[in-house]
Amino acid sequence: MLLRRPRLDDAQELFEAITSDALVVRLVGWPRHTDSEATLQVLVRSDDYWREHGVGPFVVVGSDSHSIIGTTGLSLTANNCASTGYVLARAAWGRGLASEALTEMVRLATRLDITELTAFVHPQNLKSIRVLDKLKFELRSTERTEHFPNVDGGVACSVLDYVRVLR
Ligand SMILES: CC(C)(COP(=O)(O)OP(=O)(O)OC[C@H]1O[C@@H](n2cnc3c(N)ncnc32)[C@H](O)[C@@H]1OP(=O)(O)O)[C@@H](O)C(=O)NCCC(=O)NCCS
Repeated sequence: MLLRRPRLDDAQELFEAITSDALVVRLVGWPRHTDSEATLQVLVRSDDYWREHGVGPFVVVGSDSHSIIGTTGLSLTANNCASTGYVLARAAWGRGLASEALTEMVRLATRLDITELTAFVHPQNLKSIRVLDKLKFELRSTERTEHFPNVDGGVACSVLDYVRVLR
């Protein structure tokens, strides 16, 4: 598995592998994409974010094929903190790759002197909760609500807010 900065010409591949797949995006906080233009717009915003902050979203690519198998990244928040997340293409599930990607984000955040790395997760997302547990994230709150547009009609539900304190 390798991580690299996304490029605008990743839009079609990302759309096919990830953003259009109803099962993949079921428990994420953004709506499923119905055309690759929506994915391209996300990549344009990603590019702007990288230009401004020197960090941002990453695509996860297979170390042999170099085809896109996932996304992850860091989003800077207030006071030297950052949030992260990870989404893998269906074919890449169950091989420990989310744990590897999150390990890389913890490493990068540590290098950038980030003091707290956060992630939120839908309470039904047991695999993702396990990944956060494995990487020593701790449950900080269950009080916030978020919209998960691809599940239960998109009604707001309580989310699990996790944090890993880095120093
Ligand atoms: C959630 C997701 C990232 C997990 O990726 P993955 O590479 O399969 O995860 P890993 O292999 O690193 O670890 C999964 C862990 O969950 C465990 N697991 C699998 N099914 C489980 C279940 N139903 N309940 C509890 N744990 C489960 C696995 O055994 C593994 O733990 P282990 O290493 O101790 O055996 C992936 O399924 C995905 O991309 N889903 C869609 C997008 C998404 O929901 N992203 C997260 C948003 S918060």
